[in-house]
Amino acid sequence: MIEKKSVTNNNLFSSWLTKLIKISALFSFVILSSCSPDDSTLSSSEKDSEPQTKWESVQTILSSRCISCHRSGRRHASISGLILTEDIAYASLVNALPKNSKALSDGKKRVSTSGNSEDRLSNSFLWTKINTISNSAYGSKMPTRGSLSFSDIAIIKSWIESGALEN
Ligand code: HEC
Repeated sequence: MIEKKSVTNNNLFSSWLTKLIKISALFSFVILSSCSPDDSTLSSSEKDSEPQTKWESVQTILSSRCISCHRSGRRHASISGLILTEDIAYASLVNALPKNSKALSDGKKRVSTSGNSEDRLSNSFLWTKINTISNSAYGSKMPTRGSLSFSDIAIIKSWIESGALEN
């Protein structure tokens, strides 16, 4: 009688244990599958295969935040040698040489399309101008008043990284 009882207890214990194992396996599956890889774990070639940011989105930002100064006839446009109105913004930026002498001697383009996504970013003076604090050699951070939103900065960044296409 006593033996029988202990056998039953044993069975109860092992079926409880089996349930516990099943439940914890299910939990770890749910937790693992909810973690998708974030941007930092993607290699640059994977980033390159992401949908490309359209030039149109970049031009929209330039037209609303930059052309008050960077338009034909403005003093700021002649100081910087840069016009960002729709008619010539793309040609003024992509693979064009910067007017800033430090950027020029560093070998930067206004927007570079050579190398991988990291090279393009580090060789693009446009990226330096919207992303880093003002520096005596590189001039002021753009725009000079206020600053771009994080999402605007991200749009310009991903456009440069993905090769600065015009479509
Ligand atoms: C209030 C006027 C003003 C606004 C607004 C402005 N800029 Fe500028 N920008 C300048 C001036 C002046 C210079 C030249 C001096 C300097 O580099 O700090 C310049 C220089 C630049 C240069 C360097 C050009 C070169 O070849 O050396 C880039 C790139 C640039 N601006 C991009 C932008 C972008 C992008 C915006 C909008 C997000 C913007 N600017 C908004 C006045 C302005």
